Amino acid sequence: MEIRVCIGSSCYLKGSREVINELNQLIKENSLNSMVSLKGSFCMGKCSVDGVTVSCDDKFYFVEPDDVDDFFEKVIVPSIPRAI
Ligand code: FES
Repeated sequence: MEIRVCIGSSCYLKGSREVINELNQLIKENSLNSMVSLKGSFCMGKCSVDGVTVSCDDKFYFVEPDDVDDFFEKVIVPSIPRAI
């Protein structure tokens, strides 16, 4: 699975750095490094939506820094067959 977190200026101001750091931490804690690729992305053209734009494979999500745990549990974990 490929996760891309927008680091364009609008998303950066909404907390993309915190989102990336938190996701990175959760991926490590759950030993998913070999299953999940986490990358930064330039603007994905969805700046007007609340939250940091995150794409997982072909789908877009909008994640607030405080909601990263929830996003990880509800979106990322169920998408990985061997995930806990
Ligand atoms: S800056 Fe993130 S979608 Fe535009």
